[in-house]
Amino acid sequence: MIQSNILDIKIKKTKNSKINTLDWDNLVFGRAFSDHMFVMDYKDGKWCNAQISEFKDLNFSPATSVLHYGQTIFEGMKAYRNEDNSAILFRPEENAKRFNISAERMCMPEVPVPMFLEALKTLLDIDREWIPTKSGNSLYIRPFMIATDPYVGIRPSETYKFIIFSCPVGKYYTESVPVKIETKYSRAVSGGTGYAKAGGNYAGSLYPALLAQKDGYRQLIWTDAKEHKYIEEAGTMNVVFQIGNTLITPKSSDTILAGITRRSVLDIARDWGYKVEERKVTVKEIIDAIKNNSLVEAFGAGTAATIAQINLIHFDGIDYKLNDPSKSEFSNKLLAYLTSYKMGNEEDKFNWLVKF
Ligand code: COI
Repeated sequence: MIQSNILDIKIKKTKNSKINTLDWDNLVFGRAFSDHMFVMDYKDGKWCNAQISEFKDLNFSPATSVLHYGQTIFEGMKAYRNEDNSAILFRPEENAKRFNISAERMCMPEVPVPMFLEALKTLLDIDREWIPTKSGNSLYIRPFMIATDPYVGIRPSETYKFIIFSCPVGKYYTESVPVKIETKYSRAVSGGTGYAKAGGNYAGSLYPALLAQKDGYRQLIWTDAKEHKYIEEAGTMNVVFQIGNTLITPKSSDTILAGITRRSVLDIARDWGYKVEERKVTVKEIIDAIKNNSLVEAFGAGTAATIAQINLIHFDGIDYKLNDPSKSEFSNKLLAYLTSYKMGNEEDKFNWLVKF
């Protein structure tokens, strides 16, 4: 049992667990929710009322500010469970820190890292049985914060809720994906909120993504808003290209989310002897690399999908088919290693795991 020591969490467990209704062999991403959720309130300048109760609907005034102005941030993280029934979190402190970077940008209060971690671990300890044990499955965790003032004037809210719930999930993508390089719409602008996990970034990406999906592409590769010349992200993930023996990825900036999976992938690649370049990546060099057969592979890296291999890139009216991802040496080896690492089956040489 996790000792609740900072938050004094009031715990009320459900008497009606839904765990036996779950189809463990067919876990769909984000549709089934574990029994409990954590909620705490921010008012009068401090966090209070920390509680864990059954997963249930929230009750709000229609005037609640988040519903109008989108003052909301979130994180995505995953837990795993190994044979000795330990719950394992992958780099949770990094999520907690990034959450606070997002909070600052969106004028929201900090959730101190120890508080964030205590809430998370206490919740997961209660819903431990919901953490899948099968390789490839995991418990996707969604910490988020919303502005709750019942006020329609525009200013930062004075009250907030910090909530965590979780969903047992299978694979986000079951196969490799065709993507389109977007050269009209933008996900983020310099000086904007692109580096924050703010709800509005995702809302704004839906329309261009939908247009691309109508043409048969699963995701977009976003380019810079000014010239559409530099590659930024792939869908909701960071993007990595292998050219020769070098892994190349756009350098984090205020328009690119500092991905934790991305950083982990690059650390592993360096450890395996690959050369890694974090820098500006032009659309032209990627298209040229496809044309001259030096693009070995391309993939998205993010929490939900872990690694999403790319099988085709569309640019300027042309579909460029990539090498068969099932034969990609780096990403297949990487996915197998990361999956095994996160389940506690590898030496934790990078000190990334938190077990409890
Ligand atoms: C994540 O990988 O956690 C994401 O942010 C994707 C999410 C929008 C499903």
